[in-house]
Amino acid sequence: MAGSIRGTSITSRPARLLRNQPSGISLDPQAFRSLSFSSHLHHLSLKSLGKRLRVQTIRISAVVRAQSIFENMQVDISLSPRVNSVKPSKTMAITDQATALAQAGVPVIRLAAGEPDFDTPAVIAEAGIRAIREGYTRYTPNAGTLELRTAICHKLKEENGLTYTPEQILVSNGAKQCILQAVLAVCSPDDEVIIPAPYWVSYPEMARLADATPVILPTHIADNFLLDPKFLASKLTDKSRLLILCSPSNPTGSVYPKKLLEEIADIVAKHPRLLVLSDEIYEHIIYAPETHTSFASLPGMWERTLTVNGFSKAFAMTGWRLGYLAGPRHFVAACGKIQSQSTSGASSISQKAGVAALGLGYAGGEAVSTMVKAFQERRDFLVKSFKELEGVKISEPQGAFYLFLDFSSYYGVEAEGFGVIKDSESLCRYLLDEAQVALVPGDAFGDDNCIRISYAASLSTLQAATERIKGAMASLRRVIPV
Ligand SMILES: Cc1ncc(COP(=O)(O)O)c(C=O)c1O
Repeated sequence: MAGSIRGTSITSRPARLLRNQPSGISLDPQAFRSLSFSSHLHHLSLKSLGKRLRVQTIRISAVVRAQSIFENMQVDISLSPRVNSVKPSKTMAITDQATALAQAGVPVIRLAAGEPDFDTPAVIAEAGIRAIREGYTRYTPNAGTLELRTAICHKLKEENGLTYTPEQILVSNGAKQCILQAVLAVCSPDDEVIIPAPYWVSYPEMARLADATPVILPTHIADNFLLDPKFLASKLTDKSRLLILCSPSNPTGSVYPKKLLEEIADIVAKHPRLLVLSDEIYEHIIYAPETHTSFASLPGMWERTLTVNGFSKAFAMTGWRLGYLAGPRHFVAACGKIQSQSTSGASSISQKAGVAALGLGYAGGEAVSTMVKAFQERRDFLVKSFKELEGVKISEPQGAFYLFLDFSSYYGVEAEGFGVIKDSESLCRYLLDEAQVALVPGDAFGDDNCIRISYAASLSTLQAATERIKGAMASLRRVIPV
C-alpha cells in the first residue's frame, strides 16, 4: 500500500518485512532503498517596500523507493494516536515563516518569538567557557549537580521563602522538559488538567501527551486575564488532577496578586487530588510595584505544588537549555525517573553557567535589572502607542515581555486585495502581508480575539513595527464600536 503525506509519496514495504527477512540473508539498507528529494515552490505574495513581491518558499519532500529484491516493499507510515492528538506549535510555525521571508530579502520585523533579544550576561557565558576549558564535560548526576541544586535551594529560600533540600530539586534541559515530565508523572488517563486561558501554547498539548484531558478556563481582558476563583471552583471535579498557573504570564504579561492566589489556594485545598504546577519562569521580569508570589509559599500549598523555573528568560539563556523543578520528594523523584530514561541530566556546561547566574545576586542583580528596565521602557512605549489606536483593547502587562491585544473589533472587515479578516490568524497573515510584521495569533493561546506581540526587540524596532501596524490597520474600516 503506498502512502502519501503532504506531497511526500512513499512506496516501500512495511518495516516489519525487513525484520522478517529469511535468516542467512544479510541486507544493507542502502542497497535496497533510495532516497530522492523533490521540492515544491510555494508562493507568498507580499507587499514590500511599496512593491508587490512574490516570495517562493521551498518545501522539500522525500520520496522513498524500494529497489532490488523488495521492489514492492511498503512502509506503514501511521503514527501513534498520541502524536496525532497533539497540535504543532503555532509560535514556531510563524517564526519559521517569518525567518524564511527575511532570508528571501523581505524586510520582516519579527515580534513572534518568546526569546530575550539580549546576549547571555558575560559572567555567565564565561563560566560556561571555563567549564569547557577545564574539561567539565562529562555526564552529571541525572538530577543535576549538587552544586547547582544547592544554589537553587538557596535562591528559593532567599527570594521565594521556600524551603527545599537538593533531593527535592530536579534540573532539566529547560523548564519545558520540567513541565512535560511533571504532567506525565502525575496524570493518569482521563485525568483533567485545568488550564486558565490565555495559556502558554504547550500546556494543553502536554496534557494530551499524557493522555489526560485539558480543561480550559477562559479569562477576560477586563479582568486582566486573571482567573476568577469562583469560576475555578465551579469547574473542579474528582477528575481534576493538576491546575497550571503561570505568573507572570505568557502570553498576557498578567501577574497574579498574592490575595488572588490565596483565594485560589483556599479552593485548591478543598480538593485532595488536585496538585498545582506553578510556572514561574518569568518571575524576575516584573514591573514595580507588582511583586511575585510563589504559589508553594501559601499556607498548605507546599505539599501539593510543583514549582517550575528556569534560566532562559531572566538570564537570556534560551539556548543553554536549563530549567528546574522543585517539589515534594515523591513527585520530584517520579519526574527524575522519566528523565533518567529519556534525556538524563542537563548539560554539564550549562549547569556551571547556571551556578554563575544564581551567583549574580538577588533576582539576578544588576545584569537582570538592566534587562528588565529595558523591557519596561518598551512595554510603556507599546501600551501608549496602542492606546492611541482605535478599536483595540489593552490589558497593561505587569511582567514578561508580551502584549496581548484584542483586535476583534476589526474582525469581519474586508481588506482590499487580501480578503476578510475573520480571526486572529487571518489578522496576523494580513499584518505579515501588509505591514511585514510577524506576530502570533491569539488562538494559539486559546483566545482568538487577541494577537501577541513579543517586545523582546529594540525600541527603534518596536517604533517601526507600531508605525507599520497602525498604517495597516488604518486601511481597514472598523466595524464594531468599542
Ligand atoms: C510560560 C513558559 N513556560 C516555560 C517555557 C519554557 O522555557 P525553557 O526555555 O526553559 O524550556 C516558556 C518558553 O517560552 C514559557 O513561555
